[in-house]
Amino acid sequence: MPSALPKKGSHLIMYGFNLANGVLHADDVSLIDIAAAHGTPTYVYSKSAIEERWHALDQAFGSYPHSIHYAVKANSNIAVLSVLAQLGSGFDIVSGGELYRVLEAGGDASKVVFSGVAKSVQDIRYALEKGVGSINVESLAELERIQTVAQDIKKTARIALRVNPNVDPQTHPYISTGLETAKFGIPIESAVSVYEVADAMSHVEVHSVACHIGSQITKTSPFSDAIEIILDLVEALANKGIRIQQLDLGGGLGIQYKDESPPAPSDYINSMLDCIKKRGLNLPVAIEPGRTIVGNAGVLLTRVEYLKTNSSKNGTKHFCMVDAGMNDLMRPALYQAYHDIVAVTPSKNTPAQTLDVVGPVCESADVLGADRELSVVSGDLLAIKGAGAYSFVMASNYNSRPRPCEIMVDGTQTYVVRKRESLADLVSSENTLPSL
Ligand code: LLP
Repeated sequence: MPSALPKKGSHLIMYGFNLANGVLHADDVSLIDIAAAHGTPTYVYSKSAIEERWHALDQAFGSYPHSIHYAVKANSNIAVLSVLAQLGSGFDIVSGGELYRVLEAGGDASKVVFSGVAKSVQDIRYALEKGVGSINVESLAELERIQTVAQDIKKTARIALRVNPNVDPQTHPYISTGLETAKFGIPIESAVSVYEVADAMSHVEVHSVACHIGSQITKTSPFSDAIEIILDLVEALANKGIRIQQLDLGGGLGIQYKDESPPAPSDYINSMLDCIKKRGLNLPVAIEPGRTIVGNAGVLLTRVEYLKTNSSKNGTKHFCMVDAGMNDLMRPALYQAYHDIVAVTPSKNTPAQTLDVVGPVCESADVLGADRELSVVSGDLLAIKGAGAYSFVMASNYNSRPRPCEIMVDGTQTYVVRKRESLADLVSSENTLPSL
């Protein structure tokens, strides 16, 4: 029977998704049954897969003092957040909206770290009122704003400075954040002086150093390069009498979409802990993982509408036109990201052909997968893998397409965790002008 344990499929490790009796299942539920009951396009998540990945990170720390703050931006459905809250997870947020979601899902505000590159007064106030564990400060100007807001409402803001260590994460440029040219963080060269300013503030309590160098990182070396720089900073601060109590090492661990081999959670964690232990330190470590927890715990289920062949003097092109588009899953169009696409019921009878899997959106960029070998006919179901992270959260209503529903499977149980938008939902927040 299908299980949540990772299995090597044709070439991609998915958690919670496996073939049983020739049909792709999420845990113990057939994706054919989900499509029949809920339609397509539909996001499907495996609860056990999310839990398994969170536990893998947690266990990798062993007895070392640590905390895990799931990066809400990766998948902010409140069902996902509540599964993680029940495991005792903390959360990494970047907006008041994400904090609201965490609280709605039963998360503990004191386990929240508030990242984000340009925090508004309103969001800072909301975070302080709710008692977030730490605000990760991105600039001197933001630090001053936090002091002002905290003073206004008579609270003390516990903070980290998010420093930019100028390390190349060797990933896609759009998701690299730790280089000196990025808008993120406080340059490492000015970190000590900004800490001195923070330390002298009346309503700010210096607690941690934070850094996040990028996402979908598939080696341990960028993480250990960054941590060495952070540890140098911790020592420099100690010499100035500023005692750092925690290291927040951000998120960024990659997953397998195609043929990447990202480090296992234990290798990733140990590579960072080794650097700390080598210096004789035992500082608590916080991490902010997003993609590695949910990325491969979700698929986007879509149905083939038409097959189409365009022939010209330059050759023949085959298209597989599906009912999901770039508005539902933006990563391929935005980052040229690869998502594996498989038939829910792999056919032995239909001959395979090389196709572009495309959506119905009126944009040439609406290609979910180029040059894929698939045996499909109209009406077949396809699963677009690796769609648990940065997928539904980045969906839009472009072309006035209602956003998909989201389903979470728990063993044999299926739950609608977000209903499909209706046509009426599309215009429900809009108004026409009053008639004259
Ligand atoms: N912490 C901070 C401060 C972050 O900015 C991020 C992600 C994370 C943690 C979580 O990183 P993760 O563990 O998920 O790699 N939309 C892009 C990814 C953007 C990531 C932004 N920051 C994509 O689809 O690939």
